[in-house]
Amino acid sequence: MFEIKQINVAYGESHVIHEVSLTVGANESVAIMGRNGMGKTTLLKSLIGLLPTLSGQILMDGQDLAGMPSYKRVKQGLAFVPQGRMVFPFLTVEQNILTGAEHSGHRTVPDYIYRFFPVLQEMKHRKGGNLSGGQQQMLAIARALISDPKVLILDEPTEGIQPSIIKELAQTLNLLRKERGFAIVVSEQVLSFALDLADRFLVIDRGRIVHAEARAELDQDRVRSFLTI
Ligand SMILES: Nc1ncnc2c1ncn2[C@@H]1O[C@H](COP(=O)(O)OP(=O)(O)OP(=O)(O)O)[C@@H](O)[C@H]1O
Ligand SMILES: [Mg+2]
Repeated sequence: MFEIKQINVAYGESHVIHEVSLTVGANESVAIMGRNGMGKTTLLKSLIGLLPTLSGQILMDGQDLAGMPSYKRVKQGLAFVPQGRMVFPFLTVEQNILTGAEHSGHRTVPDYIYRFFPVLQEMKHRKGGNLSGGQQQMLAIARALISDPKVLILDEPTEGIQPSIIKELAQTLNLLRKERGFAIVVSEQVLSFALDLADRFLVIDRGRIVHAEARAELDQDRVRSFLTI
């Protein structure tokens, strides 16, 4: 189980994340919804250790990861797909995926990754920079998966991706989650994608969680009202 307890994050004097708590069950998928600038990236970066937390706990099966460097958090089961994907443009697709394998010991790309993303297999010798936005997003996800995560964290994975690919991406992530047994924490502004993917929806507003609903009782209009200005 992955548990965030009352974390605070700041950029210097600017306090951005306020007392955010969140529990993610094994195999559960949680969406963090919020408009531009509400703190989604800041929160997710603090979970993986790209930004320090001022206070609070980040517990993986009871062990506190707060204060650990990112690579140790990856070893403990967190993986991060950053906003904007950050694919290495001059490395091949295969080399890009293997950059994520440093701590899992995989020397080759596991078969299941190419089974879920056959286009990456077809393009494995192409340069990352030559892929479309959607293909780069798949590549970034593959690179995160090769660390064998318990919790896959994705920061606005639909940004800059065609609607047809967005639908496919949600389906693929659901199948992967089921087969591989990991949990998902995803930040989003696109409600339809989150509806396809998440069991639970949280809304972040100016760095605070202001609303939380399970998928079963989701009031779509209510969540949408938080996402429109
Ligand atoms: N490096 C930084 N230094 C100072 N303030 C920052 C920095 N990065 C982000 N902020 C501020 O922190 C707040 C939250 O930004 P953040 O990028 O986390 O939002 P977001 O929800 O991810 O937005 P978007 O949907 O545009 O990606 C904003 O007010 C932003 O201006
Ligand atoms: Mg962001």
